[in-house]
Amino acid sequence: MNLKVFFEKSLVNQHDRERLSGHKSVVLWFTGLSGAGKSTLSYSVEKALFDLGCRTFVIDGDNVRHGLCKELGFSDADRRENIRRVGELSKLFVEAGVITLTALISPFRDDREIVRQMYKRGNFIEVYCSADIETCESRDVKGLYAKARRGEILNFTGISSPYEPPLSPELTINTGESNLEESVQLILDFLVANKILNLHRLA
Ligand code: ADX
Repeated sequence: MNLKVFFEKSLVNQHDRERLSGHKSVVLWFTGLSGAGKSTLSYSVEKALFDLGCRTFVIDGDNVRHGLCKELGFSDADRRENIRRVGELSKLFVEAGVITLTALISPFRDDREIVRQMYKRGNFIEVYCSADIETCESRDVKGLYAKARRGEILNFTGISSPYEPPLSPELTINTGESNLEESVQLILDFLVANKILNLHRLA
């Protein structure tokens, strides 16, 4: 902690902003292998929430690596820093009253746990996109698995770098079994059941 820097407090708090938004603000932290469907699912959930009148934003690992996390690679330490930064960034969005969806592989349990601890209880919702490596590799949308198998990409998650599945995520979506529409619905149902959304109160 830097003792020379003080913490300035806003006159408007998260609760005030949630009231204005008409819903609670949380982070939906999608984790899973490359190709497991994190981005597809998070953008689809965002669209469904937006159409219901919610304030939403997706922070996608692939996108932040072009800017905020531009100098980071795929060593364990760089991934940890990537996750820490996105954890801090999404915390600001949540404080701003926004339902925030992050789509990062975030392969290490400890790193995800550190982010969870940054949030108030109930504000961090871990969504495990479970799809086995064979399924992800057969999709190989970006052609990266083939490159990793040829040794052209090092430390590739699932091939030459580990992925540690969550032990008790709030939600597990098997993207090989449920279709996109069903998966989106499962997440919306969770948000309603946990009183993050009240469908009657939205515009
Ligand atoms: S994380 O491990 O730090 O959470 P992040 O989600 O930001 O990863 O980025 C993963 C994306 O980077 C993948 O979807 C893939 O497109 C690309 N990528 C490039 N190199 C690697 C690699 N070695 N391992 C995993 N993904 C990689």
